[in-house]
Amino acid sequence: MNKKLIVENLSVSFRTVTGKVRAVRNISFDLNKGETLAIVGESGSGKSVTTRAIMGILAGNAIVEDGKIIYDGEDLLKITEEEYHEIRGKKIGMIYQDPLSSLNPIMRIGKQITEGLLLNGYHLKNKIEKLYNKERVAYLVTKRDIRSLKEKIAENKKNKEPYNDLKKQIAELKKQLPTAKKTMKIAKKKATKVVMNEYNEQKAKYHEEIKEIRRNPEGLEPKVVKEKISNKKEELRRIKKVTKKEAKERALEVMREVGIPQPEKRFKQYPFQFSGGMRQRIVIAIVLTANPDILICDEPTTALDVTIQAQILELIKKLKEERGLTVIFITHDLGVVANVADRIAVMYAGKIQEIGTNEEVFYDPKHPYTWALLGSMPDLTSKEKLITIPGTPPDMRFPPKGDAFALRSEYAMKIDFEEQPPMFKISDTHYAASWLLHKDGPNIDKPTILDERIERMKVMTEELKKEMEKELNTDEKQFEV
Ligand SMILES: Nc1ncnc2c1ncn2[C@@H]1O[C@H](COP(=O)(O)OP(=O)(O)OP(=O)(O)O)[C@@H](O)[C@H]1O
Ligand SMILES: [Mg+2]
Repeated sequence: MNKKLIVENLSVSFRTVTGKVRAVRNISFDLNKGETLAIVGESGSGKSVTTRAIMGILAGNAIVEDGKIIYDGEDLLKITEEEYHEIRGKKIGMIYQDPLSSLNPIMRIGKQITEGLLLNGYHLKNKIEKLYNKERVAYLVTKRDIRSLKEKIAENKKNKEPYNDLKKQIAELKKQLPTAKKTMKIAKKKATKVVMNEYNEQKAKYHEEIKEIRRNPEGLEPKVVKEKISNKKEELRRIKKVTKKEAKERALEVMREVGIPQPEKRFKQYPFQFSGGMRQRIVIAIVLTANPDILICDEPTTALDVTIQAQILELIKKLKEERGLTVIFITHDLGVVANVADRIAVMYAGKIQEIGTNEEVFYDPKHPYTWALLGSMPDLTSKEKLITIPGTPPDMRFPPKGDAFALRSEYAMKIDFEEQPPMFKISDTHYAASWLLHKDGPNIDKPTILDERIERMKVMTEELKKEMEKELNTDEKQFEV
């Protein structure tokens, strides 16, 4: 399957004392394997909420109203908490909007990188769990279903709706529970036996080998013998779990991969001894230790200055290429996007307003909101803004009936205030939700004021690309201690 992630009709709201905030409204997009999708939009447009929904880490007052999030063919909104733990943070890694808060200021960097490796590195335990996973999940799903039925009953009680049927369903599930538990226990016992037998055989083999080294038939020096034995013992330990030594080796490797000079020395240091850019690299290293196949970056460069930004972007690009990562890259800064994204989704008021390839959205934008975003982006050289977007985004407790951008758009028509525009197809990869694109619409093209800027942007993007590559090669030294 080529699609790594599919988000379908996802809607997320938040309960607040003053009403329901419709943060994400019926959005759909997908990600091909190895592709980078950038999500851009003003503050509050729902970018972080979208990715937090994917990660399963929405705030407590969130309600996923509807939708599917399909990862490798499985709906993440349907699987159990336990399965989700397996995917979140392992298969899908995330770099948060505020990267520095993801580091512990009083813990050495090395420990922070190895922590996850050690915690998840119990190979035998993991193997056993995998073997009886089906029975484990069946038991957990039954328990979860009982829990959610109970919640439903409570809600029905509150709304004075009938709930006897639900009670019957609970009774039925409760009847199944002991069998499910027993089946799980039997499966676990069997799995443990299989895995431990295999391990014990390996262990016996290692003990034989150690005995042989100890016998020292070649008459080696005692120091060499001792080292050989110690290596064999370490090998055996590594079958059981990720050892401290192994975790350190892997941490140093990944530190090197993300461009941290002198990793052995850096391993023992604290976050305050690192520059902002280097700290961001550490955060990325921590995420990479789990070997994710999707990397979500929520504004990973906003807090950094321009040169360092370029380096981090280049690093993300490199990792994507070398590891075959699929990336979701969030930013409100369109200038950043051109160099990293394969496709761009423009979000406004909880909706995707336009989505297309990098070229389509940058050079042939169709939605007035995208025009406004492009025009309001400070020019790279003159710093001038062509257009300032008037007004403010709508209050999402009361989402507008029609096109959410109509109130701020000089192109708004009557229908924009009345009816939600559908996603009009422009090409196989390019869609935009604007009534301007309707076949009977006024057929307005982007403001000509943007044309020249777009032309200049094409040139600049090329220049910036070269600059980024140059920076990356020369800049590492300045961080050495
Ligand atoms: N826990 C919450 N309770 C209530 N409303 C929330 C909560 N979390 C987010 N929201 C609201 O959801 C909307 C979308 O927020 P989100 O954080 O996704 O914006 P964003 O696009 O990431 O913006 P930024 O660029 O500022 O990070 C906003 O209106 C926000 O106020
Ligand atoms: Mg955000």
